[in-house]
Amino acid sequence: MTCFSCLFGRRVSSSAKRHTEFGEELSGVHNVNLFTYKELRIATDDFSPINKIGEGGFGSVYKGKLKNGKIAAIKVLSAESKQGVREFLTEIKVISDVHHENLVKLYGCCVEGDHRILVYNYLENNSLAQTLLGGGHSSVQFNWQTRTTICIGVARGLAYLHEEVRPHIVHRDIKASNILLDKDLTPKISDFGLARLIPANMTHVSTRVAGTIGYLAPEYAIRGQLTRKADVYSFGVLLVEIVSGRCNTNSRLPVEEKYLLERTWNLYERRELVGLVDALLNGDFDAEEACRFLKIGLLCTQDTQKLRPSMSSVVKMLTGEVDINENEITKPALISDFMDFKTWNLYERRELVGLVDALLNGDFDAEEACRFLKIGLLCTQDTQKLRPSMSSVVKMLTGEVDINENEITKPALISDFMDFKVKPTPKTKPDIITASYNHASSDNMENSLLSSGTTCATMTFTAPSF
Ligand SMILES: Nc1ncnc2c1ncn2[C@@H]1O[C@H](COP(=O)(O)OP(=O)(O)OP(=O)(O)O)[C@@H](O)[C@H]1O
Ligand SMILES: [Mg+2]
Repeated sequence: MTCFSCLFGRRVSSSAKRHTEFGEELSGVHNVNLFTYKELRIATDDFSPINKIGEGGFGSVYKGKLKNGKIAAIKVLSAESKQGVREFLTEIKVISDVHHENLVKLYGCCVEGDHRILVYNYLENNSLAQTLLGGGHSSVQFNWQTRTTICIGVARGLAYLHEEVRPHIVHRDIKASNILLDKDLTPKISDFGLARLIPANMTHVSTRVAGTIGYLAPEYAIRGQLTRKADVYSFGVLLVEIVSGRCNTNSRLPVEEKYLLERTWNLYERRELVGLVDALLNGDFDAEEACRFLKIGLLCTQDTQKLRPSMSSVVKMLTGEVDINENEITKPALISDFMDFKTWNLYERRELVGLVDALLNGDFDAEEACRFLKIGLLCTQDTQKLRPSMSSVVKMLTGEVDINENEITKPALISDFMDFKVKPTPKTKPDIITASYNHASSDNMENSLLSSGTTCATMTFTAPSF
């Protein structure tokens, strides 16, 4: 292991080869531990499958023993992550400068040729996704006290990233698999700043993690508006998961229980929130505190971003330092509301024209544009048989055949299609990127890491084959 500052010091000669390889790239980047590929190969027994402990959207994670005897989690970033050395190291520097009890510690990294590898402190008790939400495959017991400690710890870690680190860090991917637990079950947030290590046009594409979508604030998932309040939303979902012991989406449950947030809101309205608390606790919990936590979850996931509290307020509410105001709780933003019905709602209100791209500055044939949108609705109807053939679509688009308004029925629900992916928005949509920036600045985010990370997320979904 070598420290960059050492590379420029007297010990440079021992690393002369590496120094030559990186050349100018290293100047200005200090105090980041640098591992050689060989060192990490030895640590992981040549990246042996036996040592592989997981795989996420960024690549594979191996358990390894470093030269100094420490156990590490070694994350090999996937081939797409061919960020330039200097850019990569600059981001690494930001991450490794951040220290907090509730954040995973980055030991260092390896940048050799195409290899981009991160070396983290190894956490003994895996992630919340595998333990608490892993369907009983874990021996870890989560009593009520442990759960409160985890919720408060995660909130503190996130408040630190949002409000104390300069520039602020928006995590972007708060979810149960990114909350790791040490041997004492102290929670540690992992993967903060990681999205920044992936080239801007190749954002984290989480193809395998079907659960991700349930954590995303709709305004981020759909419009690419990334602010700290998107993290607050994800935290709210996580909080409800921890109290209830279930994942945000469970397609095996009856429709009214499938979506955790929707269920929480319904129970809240019926004043039956306590019914959501994990049955595995066998009633051994503080009901008032549990309901408070669930209400904080609802506060965090509200539709209007501005109404969501900051993470430091969340910490105070969780610890009981500040009371929550029940009257403040408004309905959560549900991704299904957002996606499914926008066009349909406007259609029903006879306001379809409002959907036409503003960049056209009104310079379009309104009747034709609305016709196109209605054809879109015809094509996306729930009942397949009602969808027109493509030759009919051509005739309708060209005006050769009229469309019959009475034929349009409600579109198929996006929530029925659960294989979601988060993809980068193509660069040809500068309007969305600007919108994202504007939003950021209104949230005092000018100096945050977001300001140079121009990622916008959009959502695509793959329908199951019929
Ligand atoms: N520092 C660590 N200590 C122990 N285990 C870890 C550590 N980092 C990652 N893991 C394990 O590796 C798994 C994969 O992690 P990874 O971050 O690559 O994927 P993910 O969190 O499931 O998804 P995503 O890529 O979206 O973050 C984790 O679920 C966890 O079990
Ligand atoms: Mg992760």
